[in-house]
Amino acid sequence: MKIIIIGATSGIGKELAQQYLALGHTVAVTGRRAELLLELKKQYPALYTDCFDVQADNAVERLQSIIANISGLELLIYSAGYGDPSTDLVAETEIDSTATNVMGFVKIATFTFNYFLQQGYGQLAVLSSVAALRGNSWTPAYSASKAYVSNYAEGLNIKARKLHAKIIVTDIRPGFVKTKMAKANGQFWVAPVHKAVRQIRAAIAAKKRVAYITKRWALIAFILKRLPYWVFKQIG
Ligand SMILES: NC(=O)c1ccc[n+]([C@@H]2O[C@H](COP(=O)([O-])OP(=O)(O)OC[C@H]3O[C@@H](n4cnc5c(N)ncnc54)[C@H](OP(=O)(O)O)[C@@H]3O)[C@@H](O)[C@H]2O)c1
Repeated sequence: MKIIIIGATSGIGKELAQQYLALGHTVAVTGRRAELLLELKKQYPALYTDCFDVQADNAVERLQSIIANISGLELLIYSAGYGDPSTDLVAETEIDSTATNVMGFVKIATFTFNYFLQQGYGQLAVLSSVAALRGNSWTPAYSASKAYVSNYAEGLNIKARKLHAKIIVTDIRPGFVKTKMAKANGQFWVAPVHKAVRQIRAAIAAKKRVAYITKRWALIAFILKRLPYWVFKQIG
């Protein structure tokens, strides 16, 4: 399978690349940190790498050139994401989160969906979060941006059904995974990256529409969706 992972210099994206490579797939990865891409390329000569910021104007052209270089695309995983605690509501943090998680995402997602439409099939997997389910006071832009990602994924799935297109969009919603991204206080059920990624691969292979990672986070999601505001405001 031909796979592109956007945002794979570290964390979940990097581990996904390593596991898919070990299974013999053709994998291309992106990110901004050129030195990390170079290290990966040294370790895995078969890996295709491209260094760009999803916020850049030419992000879609870069994606097109990767597709040309690996001669096709069957699965695109959007793992690029940014979110820092913003207790003091720091404008730069909020805007940067939104630019990467929403504006960067929507450029890549629309291009990929239309590419798959023309091709007649394909799968897009997007890294959202359990944080998408409710607003929160520590990372307002992060949770809002992930709500956008999940909602967008649902919209694209419905669009694919209406168009009778063989396109699947898999909305991956991790709880806590042990990467540099997981910074919140009071973390629990923190999954090791390799375990989270095994479950993400399984959800993608099963063509799931929504997947909680690890699976038991579905329980937290069930509760979060039902908590009335007057209760949620004590913890959110
Ligand atoms: N870890 C968790 O607990 C957790 C929980 C829920 C959801 N998630 C989601 O899972 C995804 C992966 O996160 P992670 O935990 O693996 O964190 P991570 O190690 O920080 O990985 C984030 C990746 O995104 C890339 N990236 C960030 N901004 C980018 C930009 N503007 N342009 C291009 N690439 C960019 C980074 O590469 P460069 O810095 O090299 O650009 C890096 O490879 C994110 O979308 C995150 O929101 C994580």
